[in-house]
Amino acid sequence: MLQGEHLTLTYRDGESTLDAVNDVSLSVEDHQFIGILGPSGSGKSSLLYLLSGLRRPTAGDIYLDGRAYGKMPDRERVALRRSEYGFVFQQHFLINYLTSLENVMVSSPVQDKAHAEQAKALLTDLGLGEKLHRFPYELSGGERQRVAIARAMVHRPRIIFADEPTGLLDRHTGLQVMGLLRSYRDQGSLIAVTHNPEILTEADLVIRMRDGQVIKVEDRVARKTEEATA
Ligand SMILES: Nc1ncnc2c1ncn2[C@@H]1O[C@H](COP(=O)(O)OP(=O)(O)OP(=O)(O)O)[C@@H](O)[C@H]1O
Ligand SMILES: [Mg+2]
Repeated sequence: MLQGEHLTLTYRDGESTLDAVNDVSLSVEDHQFIGILGPSGSGKSSLLYLLSGLRRPTAGDIYLDGRAYGKMPDRERVALRRSEYGFVFQQHFLINYLTSLENVMVSSPVQDKAHAEQAKALLTDLGLGEKLHRFPYELSGGERQRVAIARAMVHRPRIIFADEPTGLLDRHTGLQVMGLLRSYRDQGSLIAVTHNPEILTEADLVIRMRDGQVIKVEDRVARKTEEATA
């Protein structure tokens, strides 16, 4: 469905340059759960920005159903990103003067009662049923992160990109949130960046990055199939 081919993202800082992503190729299939692990600064967020069309690669291209981002006008790429993808950022980026429910509705394609009910149900599933009308500054860090997760899911995107979705959560809440994200696989794919391998126990594919490169790909589905047939 989604393919990144020979992706490189070079940041320029005066005279020096840094390849945050260095010749990475990666495919995402329908209903697949991909985990990305790697030390701080290894290029995990940068890779998500490229795959989701938030940033343009310095080299390489990304294809959704065979259509190259590189050939798309900006407007089309932005529209595609809004309808097909959901993004949970490392920082939550909620709008401070909107309530939890309004922050989620921002990414809903239609602002009607049915969609508002769906947003409420999602927030309730994430344990925020009592806090629909709170503003972000009236929520804890973990609660804000859960609102951001609801916002990424509400328009039922084909792929959710989650950048450290549980980084701010305690273990119990983190596992609960991962459970909800994982259950999204019935509807679409999930790509999650994390420092915590524990939340990737059900991932189909685990990718390890270092210095902008993929140093290891662990295909857990293939391994499970081998184990089952051995
Ligand atoms: N806007 C930028 N300009 C210049 N360099 C950048 C920029 N954004 C990131 N970098 C550098 O690119 C490299 C990769 O950064 P990136 O944010 O992708 O890493 P990461 O794996 O997500 O790290 P973390 O786990 O800390 O979030 C780092 O060395 C970082 O300093
Ligand atoms: Mg990051």
